[in-house]
Amino acid sequence: MKKITVRCIKCNRIYKSDEIIYVCRVCGGLLEIIVEYKGDISRKTFEGRDFYLWRYRELMPIIDYSKIVTLREGGTPLTRAKNLEKEFGLKELYIKNEGLNPTGSFKDRGMTIGVSKALELNVKAVACASTGNTSASLAAYAAKAGIKCYVLIPSKKIAIGKLAQAILHGAKVISIRGNFDKALKIVREICSKHNIYLLNSINPWRLEGQKTIGYEIVEQLNYEAPDTVIVPVGNSGNIYAIWKGFKEFYKYGLVDKVPRMIGIQAEGASPIVKAVKNKSVEITPIKKPETIATAIRIGNPVNAPRALKAIRESNGYAEAVSDKEIIEAQKLLARKEGIGVEPASAASIAGLKKLLEEGIIDRDEKVVCVVTGHALKDPEIIFRMYEKYVEVDPKIEEVEKHL
Ligand code: F0G
Repeated sequence: MKKITVRCIKCNRIYKSDEIIYVCRVCGGLLEIIVEYKGDISRKTFEGRDFYLWRYRELMPIIDYSKIVTLREGGTPLTRAKNLEKEFGLKELYIKNEGLNPTGSFKDRGMTIGVSKALELNVKAVACASTGNTSASLAAYAAKAGIKCYVLIPSKKIAIGKLAQAILHGAKVISIRGNFDKALKIVREICSKHNIYLLNSINPWRLEGQKTIGYEIVEQLNYEAPDTVIVPVGNSGNIYAIWKGFKEFYKYGLVDKVPRMIGIQAEGASPIVKAVKNKSVEITPIKKPETIATAIRIGNPVNAPRALKAIRESNGYAEAVSDKEIIEAQKLLARKEGIGVEPASAASIAGLKKLLEEGIIDRDEKVVCVVTGHALKDPEIIFRMYEKYVEVDPKIEEVEKHL
């Protein structure tokens, strides 16, 4: 019923879908998956099914639906942010809250596909390097699948909630005295040497799950695309995946336009922003990336060509925001809308504010900000950056002093 092809995005070479391969063997280009469903796809295809990722099973690159590994990922709310609309003077703003996935980030959409694929390929162990969320998610899905999981994390630069999750779900956690870019380089070599399946976002199967963020936004807006979608960018896979989702719904005639994609990075880790502003097709890696938003503390994003492609194709843009702007945006979203997100996620809100001020986004647009991970991932940042709480003796008068 469906044809699944693996294709190099640089030289168009085709590979078989049961090969374990992450980049093109000939030109080193990144790979993408093409799912061609041989049948009608219309609104009716999905209607009446539960609102979660496998609602779109026809467009997912897994052959045997009865063997999927799922924790009921996806189906996250798209919330109208009326208070922030007023704050920013913007006509229509929606928050796509990916923090409400099973392990608290959008990574779960990728892992249901990635780990289902690992079982299809009959591998016994999976691994990733991670700034935190990927490791938390992979650990949970590997646990459900009953396979071994190794995660490499940058020492002291991962939020405590994410590290706790990886340990909780039984992954072997290896802390690397170095940053994410170094950890990723090592894990790529370890995986090829020891026959372990790599589930970083360089793995194109994962992005197939993440593209459903685009599908869902279209459905939740009653089959109308927004004008602009704003996404925090780190290793740069997600912005491309979401863009792919919009393009596919457009191709199937489910929506009559596609949005422009805007990527936001932290100032101290913004190679994509620099490339976009310089109109360059390549990035210059940043040797020592630094930001409070540890999830996107990445200097050499492996998926840079994908992100640049999504931004170019969609007439999009990229902008950098400071750590101060990130924390202010996190606070604003939490206190105006009741939505708690981790710092990296707040980058999309900080970016929106900045781009409205710069006039890059018009005030009459319909904008969606994707917020990628839950506030509880990184509680330490809240104790460090926000007001302190008070402690008093157990007496009514003592409490009353603080009302
Ligand atoms: N937001 C959050 C909360 C993330 O955890 C990540 C990536 C991103 C945004 C950026 O997404 O890499 O696809 O551009 N976290 C990865 C990890 C790198 O290891 O958890 P991207």
